[in-house]
Amino acid sequence: MAVPYVPTPRDVAIEMLRLANVRPGEVVVDPGAGECNIVVLAVTIFNAIGIGIEINPALVRSCIETFEKLGGLKGRAYVVWGDLFDFDYSIADVITLYLGSDANEKIRLKLIKELRRGSRVVSHDFEVPGWRPIKSIVVNGPFRTHRIYLYII
Ligand SMILES: C[S@@+](CC[C@H](N)C(=O)[O-])C[C@H]1O[C@@H](n2cnc3c(N)ncnc32)[C@H](O)[C@@H]1O
Repeated sequence: MAVPYVPTPRDVAIEMLRLANVRPGEVVVDPGAGECNIVVLAVTIFNAIGIGIEINPALVRSCIETFEKLGGLKGRAYVVWGDLFDFDYSIADVITLYLGSDANEKIRLKLIKELRRGSRVVSHDFEVPGWRPIKSIVVNGPFRTHRIYLYII
């Protein structure tokens, strides 16, 4: 189940965090974080604590470089180098997904087991198989339209 790095466009990412109603101090986790764009937006725009999980070390390095370049994110932005299927998501208030249907299906049981009641999951373009979204919206990106699905545990 290879999921390549394709970044969520900035405006779409902001809409994902808005749809999830991210509040200051909440923990936003991005499994498969790429260059941590969503983590940085969660911290800098929504005043949340952002955690990215990324398996590709070059992308993890890029996350760290971005955190250092921006500065002031200490204690608020984190990246974990590892497999997203090994992470314990129980600390998350909000999960942002951009993975694909197979990976969404695989992570689903873990999320159900680990997330607290009321936690929100937003998924870019791919539904979580077997879950019914509370809401889904279409957002215009620079090159195409994107769909975002919101689920509440
Ligand atoms: C489509 S990109 C999404 C990037 C970011 N979440 C965003 O929306 O901008 C998927 C990312 O998941 C990472 N990835 C794929 N499988 C993974 C795994 N098992 N554990 C951690 N990261 C993984 C890829 O390296 C890639 O960076």
